[in-house]
Amino acid sequence: MANGPVLVVDFGAQYAQLIARRVREAGVYSELVPHSMPVDEILAKDPKAIILSGGPASVFEPGAPTIDTKVFESGVPVLGICYGFQVMAYELGGKVDKAALGEYGKTSATIDDAAGILADSPAEQTTWMSHGVAVEQAPAGFEVLAHTEGAPVAAMADESRKLYGVQWHPEVKHSPLGQKLIENFLHRCAALPNDWDASSIIEDQVKKIREQVGDAEVICGLSGGVDSAVAAALVHKAIGDQLTCVFVDQGLLRKNEGDEVEAVFGPDGDYDLNFIRVNAQDRFYEKLAGVEEPEKKRKIIGEEFIRVFEQEAKKVGAVDFLVQGTIYPDVVESGLGGESAVIKSHHNVGGLPDFVDFKEIIEPLRDLFKDEVRKAGLELGIPEKLVFRQPFPGPGLGIRIIGEVTADKVRIVQDADFIYRSEVDKAVAEYKKANGKAPAWMPNQYFAALTNMRSVGVMGDERTYDYAVALRAVNTIDFMTAESAEIPFEVLQTVMSRIINEVRGVNRVFYDLTSKPPGTIEFE
Ligand code: XMP
Repeated sequence: MANGPVLVVDFGAQYAQLIARRVREAGVYSELVPHSMPVDEILAKDPKAIILSGGPASVFEPGAPTIDTKVFESGVPVLGICYGFQVMAYELGGKVDKAALGEYGKTSATIDDAAGILADSPAEQTTWMSHGVAVEQAPAGFEVLAHTEGAPVAAMADESRKLYGVQWHPEVKHSPLGQKLIENFLHRCAALPNDWDASSIIEDQVKKIREQVGDAEVICGLSGGVDSAVAAALVHKAIGDQLTCVFVDQGLLRKNEGDEVEAVFGPDGDYDLNFIRVNAQDRFYEKLAGVEEPEKKRKIIGEEFIRVFEQEAKKVGAVDFLVQGTIYPDVVESGLGGESAVIKSHHNVGGLPDFVDFKEIIEPLRDLFKDEVRKAGLELGIPEKLVFRQPFPGPGLGIRIIGEVTADKVRIVQDADFIYRSEVDKAVAEYKKANGKAPAWMPNQYFAALTNMRSVGVMGDERTYDYAVALRAVNTIDFMTAESAEIPFEVLQTVMSRIINEVRGVNRVFYDLTSKPPGTIEFE
């Protein structure tokens, strides 16, 4: 790789992944490495620059994570952020101490020298801080570039050694000039060109997959989701019809979704590959009969999926490689890529392959963030409609139906969800047309779920005793926290009346106001 990687050394920061993202946004390829990786190993990766992330420790506490000072003598430009900045200052002989005044949140920084990482900065910058330890004195050879009330040295540089440090978090949007600081470091200080984007990875991966696979056979499980679709399209670009895609329709997909996936990847679609669609709806419904507990449902659906996939894989014969749509956040969240805590063991990482003898797994999207995956998907010719799908849980509608799952309940939730999504999309499009921008209430995820509640209603002159549908819509950036979206009442009313009129078996519609936490985004 001519350009990069820039390695982000993760000291356990909440934001380490975000730093890698911001670097990529600046057109430079970036990856995370744990701070426990020996410096020789880090340098062997031939990094074009290194960024030391923040972290929760205090540098002067015994056992606090640090980095071998060799890294500062390597000639590779280094930027320390927050804790990483303190590590740099401490290890190089600066004075680091408990801050007389800790700073948390929005903080004004005074720029003493608008040069290097702070080139073109105004005299004051709003920054976002989170520190109770401060660098009181920069190490010898460093110039102080900025200070704040609580941080006598808030930014520093030693141009001759290409070492830079900053106390605030340039990677978060609350530091409005943060991206500029990162770009200054990459483009000015480290002289790296802005020439990487997600599509660069396609050619690299195609080459790699061809070398890895040779003329062997490859199998891929398509879920209808974005990641597996893009992974399949990428592998197809590399090896054409050596690829077999197995698409299991478990009867828990969104309305028309099975056919939409088939239209793209099936025999009449855009790719010349072996496509096997397994219509396993009845099998799944049978297994789910009488089961009410959500975790149990998840388990049954997951296991049954593996069983169906296994059967199909066996029919295909000897298959050496399995494609998985693992993406970068899955790798990091599973604690494999960095130092941050294991947040969840992800279904995409190491999920499927225990059951059949595959020689190797191919994970062509392992280095990409979600929006980069989408970009690569468009580049690979996958229709926008598929690429910009909303997140959809692996167990599908099985967990958007409270209580027992039956074919009839699946029909209800599919139809209600279809109406809801169409009406929201329509209202958003109309707003955009009239105002030239998206409405503030535009949800990041919205779907209908089926409660397990039936109640009395009246339709025409008849008494009804039918189900209540719940509508969910949330505004969220990272899907870790979320607020209920303020969809205009008239849109909700239209949805309500269409669902009750058009979907047999429903006589009430609720709107879910719960934020996350305490709720979750899914309604299971
Ligand atoms: P929750 O419900 O945990 O969801 O607030 C957060 C986000 O993750 C999606 N989600 C899943 N995605 N498999 C997935 O691939 C799952 O089992 C799963 N459960 C939740 C959810 O749609 C939301 O975007």
